[in-house]
Amino acid sequence: MSLDVAKGVSHHPREGGEWWRSGTIYQIYPRSFADANGDGMGDLAGITSRLESLATLGIDAIWLSPFYTSPQKDAGYDVADYCDVDELFGTLQDFDRMLERAHELGLKVLIDLVPNHTSDKHKWFQAAINSAPNSREREFYHFKEGRGENGELPPNNWVSMFGGPAWTRLTEKDGTPGQWYLHLFDSSQPDLNWANPEVQSAFEDILRFWLDRGVDGFRVDQPHAMAKAAGLPDHPDVERAGAGFIEGEPSPPMWFQEEVHPIFRRWREILNSYDGDRAMCGEAYVLPLSFMALWVRPDEFNQTFNFRFLDSEWKPETLFASINESFEAFDSVGAPSTWVLSNHDIIRHASRMGGLAGRPTASDGVGPGDPQPDRELGLRRARGATMFMLGLAGASYLYQGEELGLPEHTTLEPEFRQDPTFARTGGKRVGRDGCRVPLPWQAGLGAANGFNTTGKSWLPQPEIYREYARDQQDGIAGSTLELYKSALRIRRQLKLGEGSFAWLPQFTNERALGYRNGQILVIHNFGRDAMAMPAGEVILRSANGLDQQHIAADETVWIKL
Ligand code: GLC
Repeated sequence: MSLDVAKGVSHHPREGGEWWRSGTIYQIYPRSFADANGDGMGDLAGITSRLESLATLGIDAIWLSPFYTSPQKDAGYDVADYCDVDELFGTLQDFDRMLERAHELGLKVLIDLVPNHTSDKHKWFQAAINSAPNSREREFYHFKEGRGENGELPPNNWVSMFGGPAWTRLTEKDGTPGQWYLHLFDSSQPDLNWANPEVQSAFEDILRFWLDRGVDGFRVDQPHAMAKAAGLPDHPDVERAGAGFIEGEPSPPMWFQEEVHPIFRRWREILNSYDGDRAMCGEAYVLPLSFMALWVRPDEFNQTFNFRFLDSEWKPETLFASINESFEAFDSVGAPSTWVLSNHDIIRHASRMGGLAGRPTASDGVGPGDPQPDRELGLRRARGATMFMLGLAGASYLYQGEELGLPEHTTLEPEFRQDPTFARTGGKRVGRDGCRVPLPWQAGLGAANGFNTTGKSWLPQPEIYREYARDQQDGIAGSTLELYKSALRIRRQLKLGEGSFAWLPQFTNERALGYRNGQILVIHNFGRDAMAMPAGEVILRSANGLDQQHIAADETVWIKL
């Protein structure tokens, strides 16, 4: 991959001041944010009690991962009731209080909608397995007869994203083996049949239920999986693609089917029929971005996660290409690009950047037996990377804990692992638990450093989390928390999210990347040696204690002209 600055794109501010075009959205993982009742599991009351600290951080919105009624087989992405709160997290009234408090503080609230699959404990699935093959109840899901003489083989060759086959065979009530049902994820997450109008209208009611309560929108889980090719044919290239797809080749039968688009158009109409700027963001794992752009046409999603940027190795050539591709694709349909470095499915970027180049494989974490990332290097780069990202025009996503510079828990023992990936692959893939560990708020307050007052914690924190606790950083010059606060404050004051983008040719090469957003120059030094600082007022830098004449290795600076 070459870095030819002449091929760089630029971006101009566009009309339309909707908040989601430029906002910073902070992902709360409810299980691990704050635990008010001390049972070791985060909850809605805990979130409410800590919202002020997020307003102070300087974000515009929060997105909550699922808190719905769920057996928690996939940490809540297995929903048993879309219109209620799991008792682990509280009640609907707790949700209303949280929403009200967020709105008082000027924060928008997005919630996670999981439409591709339900929990196997959802009443629709329970009704389906208690009904006969081909019944109306079974039509909610994908039930099929098996292949082979006695139906003993799965109906097709699809595999699960979490490892193992994507089909599980039912045992009928009389004890005989029955039909198979499809699950692209865990066997406790049966896929819904989106070709069924009853499924479609049930979800429209769910959207309205939450919009009526006052949410500002949705983050939509796995939207690219919802429609399946008619007849559920084999994946033509399962050997190479596994559960996924190969970029640039025709869509496999479970991903990106055309039939999803009318569904999102309908949802957008529903959102638009409400007051305020309601918005939906799709977790559309669709590449290249020119293809993803179809998902954010003006009448579909407001935005999608930018997986190209997220997956990019932290190298000038790759980032240069991914930023060009982003502006080009999203500008072509008038949608904002989003930017993101961490979430609850991948290794935290403070660890990823400490020796692991990019994201090794989706859903793979680091275990105690693996080579361990370099914490210091990782944090130094992560701070630089975040500042590089927060200068970009568009909407940014932050994941809870990254503002503390929190590393992944990379030595979590197998007995604590809960991600289904771990069990489904016999421990070969350790899974995503390492980025989901409860947050440290106050050093030394119980074993979980102020996550609660009892010290209980559904995943144990590593020793080192104490050093990263919020109270150790709050108000401390040079801390990662203060760096985030400053960056977000400047971003808001100078309207960087609504701004422009142009590469700086003299700082765009194999050693550095630099761009201009309005009056601000953003430069990151990828080299091993310090670089000369250009003229201008340095208003923020990611490294501490360096001389004013140089940009250190791995450092990002913001310079005002
Ligand atoms: C999304 C979620 C992930 C979940 C999966 C299945 O990728 O982010 O956590 O396991 O969908 O719902």
